Amino acid sequence: MNANDVVVVSAVRTPFGRFDGALKTVLSMDLGVLALKEVVRRIDLDPKQVDEVYYGTCIPAEYAIYTNVPARQITLLAGFPEENISLTIDRACCSSMTALRLGCRAIKSGDAEIVVACGAENMGNVPLIASAAKARWGSRLGHIPLEDVLFELGYSRKGFAPVATDAGHVAVEYGVSREKQDEWALASHTKYFAAAKAGKYEVGGELMRLEIPQKKAPIVLEKDESPRDNLNLEKMAALKTVYGSPTVTAGNAPGLNSGASAMVIMSRKKADALGLKPLATIEACACAAGSPKYMACVPAQTIDKMFAQTGQTIDDVDVIEINEAFAAVTLVSLKMLAKDDPAKWQALQDKTNVNGGAIAIGHPVGASGARITMTMMYELMRRGGGTGVAAICGGLSQGEAILVKV
Ligand SMILES: CC(C)(COP(=O)(O)OP(=O)(O)OC[C@H]1O[C@@H](n2cnc3c(N)ncnc32)[C@H](O)[C@@H]1OP(=O)(O)O)[C@@H](O)C(=O)NCCC(=O)NCCS
Repeated sequence: MNANDVVVVSAVRTPFGRFDGALKTVLSMDLGVLALKEVVRRIDLDPKQVDEVYYGTCIPAEYAIYTNVPARQITLLAGFPEENISLTIDRACCSSMTALRLGCRAIKSGDAEIVVACGAENMGNVPLIASAAKARWGSRLGHIPLEDVLFELGYSRKGFAPVATDAGHVAVEYGVSREKQDEWALASHTKYFAAAKAGKYEVGGELMRLEIPQKKAPIVLEKDESPRDNLNLEKMAALKTVYGSPTVTAGNAPGLNSGASAMVIMSRKKADALGLKPLATIEACACAAGSPKYMACVPAQTIDKMFAQTGQTIDDVDVIEINEAFAAVTLVSLKMLAKDDPAKWQALQDKTNVNGGAIAIGHPVGASGARITMTMMYELMRRGGGTGVAAICGGLSQGEAILVKV
């Protein structure tokens, strides 16, 4: 233990909503505001003490009609002082883990003492868009088409393949079958329900209660909306693949979700000075990028890069979180980390996403990096300690990894 260690002192997320669920018209920034308020309220931290807020969000079309700088807007709306420094980060699904890494860097360099790393997304609230060429500058005569940025997440417009398509092809290349992906996806839901039954998803741990005033009754959410019970493999096997992917279906992909997450990090010496109990230490962080098609490999590559720096191996950790961007991503990356050894691949699967993953919980992309980090941290806390590694991939093969010790 070192006074300059970066520690986590508070971590919270909203329940994650379904695409067509209760939060479908709530602005992502409003979810971000609520998570930001709650993460400081839980430890009675005066927002004046927070030097910087890093906010991940990566579907700008959703908040576009509220103009730019969402990080600045959420900090002001959450009652943070006007002097608070903030930064909006778009590193696709990695964004809120990038926020954590940049926060660690700022604290280690002495630029900041206390940072909030957070993220929010609402994929159900993404508007349909009319392009300037067609609408603002006018189609002299005729209808104005609307475009859906959620469709294939837009990547194909610039000549890249949809991520679901790439993930499926890479899974086939790595010998991870559709059947295996469906099994993993089913287990994501069953592990979630087992964890929920054991009280791991009660409000007060990683989850906060959401109450959003509306004209009539408020929206109240205390549970994730996406986990499905009563699933079976035959039903999943019968689902059609999406976006031309050879293996990815609505069953073995996460949904298009809503939610926010936030974590307060600071140096151990600052936590001591404030009398705050560190929940976990961030031992290392790394980022990487690779060939756009091979997004499924990038969590493994980022973990390898981080361990090359720390001198550890995947065998040194008690739990692993690899974001279920698709079941294909988690399975391909674990296979790479296992160096293709079937017994080791199975052993790694057994300690990965032990309380369910994004397929069950949901994947509100900008919020997921911090979500998997805190889900892992709370699990280690319940176990009385240990070490965990979390990694996430982002569009066109970007990766973030983080090593956490409790
Ligand atoms: C895959 C995707 C296109 C599906 O969208 P959708 O059609 O709105 O999804 P739904 O939840 O309505 O599911 C479609 C159907 O599959 C069924 N289904 C979904 N999961 C199932 C499961 N586990 N078992 C059985 N059936 C299932 C639904 O019941 C629904 O059936 P219905 O049409 O009879 O009602 C969408 O969720 C998506 O794009 N996900 C990926 C998001 C993404 O790319 N994130 C970033 C990663 S990098």
